[in-house]
Amino acid sequence: MKKLIVAIDGPSGAGKSTVGKLLAKELGYLYIDTGAMYRAIGLKAVREGIELKENDSLRGLCARTDVRLVQGEGSLRVYLDDEDVSDSIRTPEMGMVASAVSAQPCVRERLLELQRRLGEGGGVVLEGRDIGTVVFPEAKVKFYLDAKVEERARRRWKEFMEKGIETDLQKTIEDVAKRDYDDSHRDIAPLKRASDAVVVDSSGLSINEVVALMKEKVLKVAGN
Ligand code: DC
Repeated sequence: MKKLIVAIDGPSGAGKSTVGKLLAKELGYLYIDTGAMYRAIGLKAVREGIELKENDSLRGLCARTDVRLVQGEGSLRVYLDDEDVSDSIRTPEMGMVASAVSAQPCVRERLLELQRRLGEGGGVVLEGRDIGTVVFPEAKVKFYLDAKVEERARRRWKEFMEKGIETDLQKTIEDVAKRDYDDSHRDIAPLKRASDAVVVDSSGLSINEVVALMKEKVLKVAGN
């Protein structure tokens, strides 16, 4: 059976990480969360007090920064240089910061290079905003996962509350809507559905139903 590149794109909170991880596990593929990489760069920029705009400082930061994804026991760990930042990047603020740095050319160039290196051998599920359109436009299986904005925001809000991060639901809805707008209206690699992507609306479906549907599609393509 061929080892494919599986691309999953879509807006925040559509369930890409949850289903991406499960799908990768079922297929015996590597799971790559590209949003986590943008979050890690954003975290470093904030810590260093660097403006989240294309400038010499941000370009310098990209050139001297390494982001690695390591499969830990049961979860994917994100390393910024040699520090495990998996938990610090999962806050409402870092979502907004990641969205801001992700619009900057130097950041996209740096991460594009790392993402292509990670995925080029196949046997990978990559999720993000531009996997099927820019990172791996030649991927044989592409999904565009979507759900209604209120439902996506509610899922995000629930995750934060479960982690003990106090957030207001209304503010989460506004943040998700702003991120949708910014991510899909930026100049480089905006969030959009690849013309050959299968659209999956997860609004009325369970996680298992979404994973089953995707797995069936991957196996069909891999078998041919
Ligand atoms: O999936 P996430 O919420 O962790 O992503 C954080 C931000 O990173 C998102 O708002 C936009 C950016 N991003 C991107 O521009 N391209 C990707 N492939 C993945 C994420």
